[in-house]
Amino acid sequence: MSTLRRASLGAGFGYTPGEQPPDGDGWLKLNTNEAPLGPSSAVAPAVAAATTLLHLYPDPYGEPLRSALARHHGVAPDCVFLANGADQVIDCLFRAYCDPGDRAVWPVPTYSLFPVLARLFGVEEVEIPLDGDLGLPAALGTADGRLRFIVNPNAPTGVWTAPEALEELLDPAPGVVAIDEAYCDFAPASCIPLLERHPRWLVLRTFSKGYALAGLRVGYAVGHPELIADLLAVKDSYPVDRCAIAGAAAALADQEHHRRLVAGVRAERERLSRRLVAAGWRLTPSEANFVFARPPGGDAAGTLARLRERRILVRHFAGDHADRLRITVGSPEQNDRLLDALGI
Ligand SMILES: Cc1ncc(COP(=O)(O)O)c(C=O)c1O
Repeated sequence: MSTLRRASLGAGFGYTPGEQPPDGDGWLKLNTNEAPLGPSSAVAPAVAAATTLLHLYPDPYGEPLRSALARHHGVAPDCVFLANGADQVIDCLFRAYCDPGDRAVWPVPTYSLFPVLARLFGVEEVEIPLDGDLGLPAALGTADGRLRFIVNPNAPTGVWTAPEALEELLDPAPGVVAIDEAYCDFAPASCIPLLERHPRWLVLRTFSKGYALAGLRVGYAVGHPELIADLLAVKDSYPVDRCAIAGAAAALADQEHHRRLVAGVRAERERLSRRLVAAGWRLTPSEANFVFARPPGGDAAGTLARLRERRILVRHFAGDHADRLRITVGSPEQNDRLLDALGI
């Protein structure tokens, strides 16, 4: 760290992503909630075709993907904002809605990027603990703040809140409400159909999970055109590159592959959960592509280390739930390898 860095960031500043070992090498990555199989076979040719135009900037709004997403969700194109991953959408939310000293609200535990960006933007963090069953507390709807995040299903817990219950909880909420639906493809329903009656809500989605495109970096927000205009005003010049636009559009068009991927993950989530529970693990029911699970005895850190010795990566978070591991749902073969390593 140089002496020139902003002192307010502090020495340990930065987002800590899950470990990314070199590609291949025999590692089983169940630590960053990636898809267990590749994207639609239509993606590679679409990306290859886009490379013939790489000397030209892409469309600044992400067209034609923006219009394709609008059709997909039954909204107008000016209700969609595209960015370099949902992470960049979150960054733009801070840029658009928070001055230094403003407050932003989220439950804990949730996505660990929020506090990092809050620090970067000089925003006061209002962290509200989940209730005993890892559900959303009422204070989440009432705490003062210009920006509010709800991840649904939540990460790392996998707990999903029905859109109608969210509506009730968030009814008194001031400011902008961002509902991060990164894992919604694996859950029963989205909040997007409710946006018509909530002009201060934005729903965030990503191609990283349900479309198996984490490496391409495409995320987006859906919401009222006035909020979308706020995000457009603060975005980078060309946030989504030509290959990403073409690849994501091809993936979106192949809904059959998407449905197969989601159905496979859901089926394996149930099988993995059943096997873990039968072996004495404690699980919170998950509607995401991961489970949040406590090994018998609660030695999550030890289990993490033992799995690592077998070249299997899962995620462990310090704090109130340090007796649990977040385990991405893999393919049947990957889950069998995990269960075998756990002696189950
Ligand atoms: C809750 C949540 N939101 C957003 C993201 C980031 O998505 P993207 O890959 O589109 O940046 C993640 C990634 O794991 C996530 O867990």
